[in-house]
Parts: sequence; structure tokens; C-alpha cells
Amino acid sequence: MNNPLILRPIRTKDAGSYYEIFGDPEICRYDDFSPITEDESVEDIVRILDGYARLDENTELAIELAEEGKMIGVFAVLCGLKYKYIGYHFNRRYWGRGFASLVVNMYLDTLKPKDRALIRARVDSQNAASIRVLEKCGFRRVSSRRLENATREWVYHWQPGPRK
Ligand SMILES: CC(C)(COP(=O)(O)OP(=O)(O)OC[C@H]1O[C@@H](n2cnc3c(N)ncnc32)[C@H](O)[C@@H]1OP(=O)(O)O)[C@@H](O)C(=O)NCCC(=O)NCCS
Repeated sequence: MNNPLILRPIRTKDAGSYYEIFGDPEICRYDDFSPITEDESVEDIVRILDGYARLDENTELAIELAEEGKMIGVFAVLCGLKYKYIGYHFNRRYWGRGFASLVVNMYLDTLKPKDRALIRARVDSQNAASIRVLEKCGFRRVSSRRLENATREWVYHWQPGPRK
């Protein structure tokens, strides 16, 4: 079966789709930022394009649904001192179709084994859908900490082995 998703750089014309995602309070429910405005989505895209120009390793990529030619999600990579942390947000209209698990596996497949072994994700302990995505993709919980706002953050680390 053809892969329905394309992982590609974000473009200026994605601003509307970016706002549909990060302007939605339900999608940002577990994030440490408030939903953005339309103006902020344009500013964010300028910041992302600037990061591409500087070859910044901290980056956000568009997840495009090929059949619609539309950015339906954003995949992020944040570099820590030792580990790289991934994050993903999907337009609510596209939840429940296996796309998050697919895109995490697509990203893992682009990495060499030694780099794959350094991939982690931080997730709110209440975010059952994201935890399920990580577990399906071969991540295991390695630590837990309580944040200032009293929520609990779990850290997942990718482990070699079968992925669903
Ligand atoms: C988390 C998110 C990316 C999942 O995207 P998705 O494309 O729907 O994910 P998938 O379809 O690949 O997998 C979701 C899995 O979680 C399960 N799931 C969904 N809601 C659930 C819930 N409330 N409780 C338990 N499992 C749940 C689904 O059944 C599915 O598992 P399955 O394949 O075994 O049936 C999406 O909900 C989202 O964008 N959320 C807001 C942003 C966010 O929280 N990002 C993660 C930050 S760490």
C-alpha cells in the first residue's frame, strides 16, 4: 500500500493549516503553551523557516496527507544535550486513522540505528492517545516527574525491537 503521508519542510502557504492545529485548544490541551492566534501562526512559520536557513537541528516538519495536498500535522524534533525529543500534533479531523504512529515510524526509519537509540519523547501522563502511539512504535517509559502545574510528565525512550 502506498504511504498516504509525506514528511516535508513547512512552507509559508501552510500558515492556515498550522493555525488549524495550534489554534485548537483541544489539540494543545497537554502543551505548556496556549492556543495561538492566526497572526502568531504566521510568526511561527517565519521562525521555522529562519531555523531551516540556520540549519537549526531543532525543527518542525509538515506532515502532509498526499491525497489532499494538505498539512494535517506537525512533527517536531528538539535536541537535548544527549537525546533528541520528538513531538507530534495532528489536526483533530484526522485523529484515529493511525497517522501519528505511521509518521513516528517514518521518522525512525530515516535514522541510523545509533541515532535511533537516542530518540525520546516527553508526554503528559494523562495523554492516553500519545502514550499508545509511543508504545506501538517501540518506546518504553524511563522516567516520571511532577511539573510545577501539578501534572506528571513521563519520558519515553525508543528501544530496538518489534514495532506495530
Ligand atoms: C496524540 C495524537 C497525535 C494521536 O494521533 P492519531 O493519528 O490519532 O494516533 P494513531 O491513530 O496513530 O494512534 C492512536 C492510538 O491511541 C488510541 N487512543 C486514542 N484515544 C485514546 C484514549 N483516550 N485512551 C486510550 N487510547 C486512545 C487509539 O485507539 C490508537 O491506538 P490503536 O491503534 O491501538 O487503536 C493526536 O491525538 C493529537 O494530535 N493530539 C494532540 C497533540 C498531542 O497530544 N500530541 C502529543 C504530545 S506528546
